[in-house]
Amino acid sequence: MVSTATHIGDFTFDNCLMNAAGVYCMTKEELADIEASAAGSFVTKTGTLEARLGNPEPRYADTQLGSINSMGLPNQGFHYYLDYVTELQKAPDSKNHFLSLVGMSQEETHTILKTVQESDYEDLVELNLSCPNVPGKPQIAYDFETTDQILSQVFSYFTKPLGIKLPPYFDIAHFDLAAAIFNKYPLTFVNCINSVGNGLVIEDETVVIKPKNGFGGIGGDYVKPTALANVHAFYQRLNPSIQIIGTGGVKSGRDAFEHILCGASMVQIGTALHQEGPAVFERITKELQAIMVEKGYQTLEDFRGKLNYID
Ligand code: SIN
Repeated sequence: MVSTATHIGDFTFDNCLMNAAGVYCMTKEELADIEASAAGSFVTKTGTLEARLGNPEPRYADTQLGSINSMGLPNQGFHYYLDYVTELQKAPDSKNHFLSLVGMSQEETHTILKTVQESDYEDLVELNLSCPNVPGKPQIAYDFETTDQILSQVFSYFTKPLGIKLPPYFDIAHFDLAAAIFNKYPLTFVNCINSVGNGLVIEDETVVIKPKNGFGGIGGDYVKPTALANVHAFYQRLNPSIQIIGTGGVKSGRDAFEHILCGASMVQIGTALHQEGPAVFERITKELQAIMVEKGYQTLEDFRGKLNYID
């Protein structure tokens, strides 16, 4: 029997597939559905210091090749998610989880992380440095100086396992610069990629979402090559202790296989989960297992990062 089990840091997961933050994770009910599915884990919606309504609707649209969204970080406030995952982790058969967080300012981010540091929560934390959809707030991880400063301050007090959600980078020089910063810190993982920010989708003569005059983060088929490139670029550059979570354009076992081949230790599903619901995890797991059987691989370690190049 082939295994799709994996680990991130000291945390083990029976399956390498899970949701991407933002999809099917806004409420306890949605999170419970992911917990009950074939997914190996869940990540919560990114929680901010206070609850947020987010941007005006319509703020998400399915498109022929994926999706566009400008949700604007609607969420119940980080305490809601912190309390839920802390409660869940007490159950003996609970999966391990990821708590996604960010403040609307650096001060707020530190307030949130200090609260988590002092809490009973022991699982993984994902700091979202890449939301493209809050008007007036640029994606933090495109500002290398600020990113370095935030991480330096965070790791002066935060000792629990922490990773960061990254936007896509598009230039080799940026992969080099970003990796040099991340390698300075005891990050447990980086998650590549958030949506490709500020795309525009038009139907007839009109944009398909309301916020920001139609500009929004792009997911689905459009973004898989960019996601794979980011996963592999960071796999090549980061200290081996920093694992990679691959996110972007995964709607089949073949897509998940490619993310792992590029170096991902875990693979997140966004647009396809939104379109298909939690049954997507069982389907894609079976498809991934079938590819592994066909190729004679027993575990993810047999092919993780082993992408072939052309001489
Ligand atoms: C959003 O809420 O706008 C999406 C979350 C994200 O892209 O980080």
